[in-house]
Amino acid sequence: MAVIPVALGGRGYEVRVARGLLDDAASEAAPFLRKRRVPLVADAGAWAAQGDRIARSLGDAGHEIALYQVAPGEGSKSWTGLAALTDWLLAEEVERGDHVLALGGGMVGDLTGFACSILKRGCGFIQLPTTLLAQVDSSVGGKTAINTAVGKNLVGAFHQPALVLADLDALATLPARELRAGYAEVLKYGVLGDRPFFDWLAERGGEVLALDPAALEHAVATSVAAKARIVAEDERETTGARALLNLGHTFGHALEAETGFSDRLLHGEGVALGMVLAARYSARRGQFSYSEAERVAAAVAAAGLLTTLAGVGLDCDGGRLAQHMTHDKKMDAGTLPFVLLRAIGDACLARDVALADVAAFLDEELLRAA
Ligand code: GLY
Repeated sequence: MAVIPVALGGRGYEVRVARGLLDDAASEAAPFLRKRRVPLVADAGAWAAQGDRIARSLGDAGHEIALYQVAPGEGSKSWTGLAALTDWLLAEEVERGDHVLALGGGMVGDLTGFACSILKRGCGFIQLPTTLLAQVDSSVGGKTAINTAVGKNLVGAFHQPALVLADLDALATLPARELRAGYAEVLKYGVLGDRPFFDWLAERGGEVLALDPAALEHAVATSVAAKARIVAEDERETTGARALLNLGHTFGHALEAETGFSDRLLHGEGVALGMVLAARYSARRGQFSYSEAERVAAAVAAAGLLTTLAGVGLDCDGGRLAQHMTHDKKMDAGTLPFVLLRAIGDACLARDVALADVAAFLDEELLRAA
């Protein structure tokens, strides 16, 4: 088992990465389960796939699960969903010292974490992420949120979990497309700050995607360790360190917006293509080599992810995509900081990017053959 501490003083916690953790959920989480009845919020799909394992573990330890199932999909991360969940937590008489279990992908983790951040001014929660994306990104670092009519994740709070149990066995039932989308975030850690990890993924990424146990544990644990380091350095994204985790997200967000945040482009797929665009744009600015940008593209392509805008099938120009970026929540006094590359493994924050230049670059990229 890999145990990765997130060093945040009194708010610090462990991320444990291993196979079979959900089968031992009761013992793993024992210090936090102080009552017989344990509130558990689950994505309905994740509960169907993993619920038996948790129920057996908690049942054997003398616990009873109070289960709240959430319909899969981003639609559940809403004001209505939040109100319903907090009302349920209140009806369950959850107290500040209690810990709510959150089982599923980023949607359930974000929604449950936010509900727990406001319930009685804050109660505890434990992340049980069941997607690759949630294991390497959203379950770690305490960003919690819901979506509103204006945009995604615009209302939320920083609220750290007390523990994260990333059970690698849960990934066995994940659809291949979701696994690939989550892999984009794994690759991101190599591209933004760890060249040896990028090189390892270029060689062994196929084994990760085939769920080879040793390769998968190495990939997840290395990703989590990278995120833990960054979160410990810049918990609230104020120094610029945590902002580097947004590599690929600004371009990706524009693509997700243009495709209506729909199944046409999953978040991780947008991040993967966004990372390629950030690499090519960095090369166009003369701060990164074109051949290295194509190495990033090759690593993305090797995972079966898109590397060209033509592959998305868009009916718009670069100006329209750049326009979507102006709604980005990272806009700061009229400018949008971009995460760009100086080298593979060396990302930086550029605050001097003109959106007109980005639009011209995207017009060129729209002409690139799929
Ligand atoms: N997903 C980016 C972050 O947690 O900061």
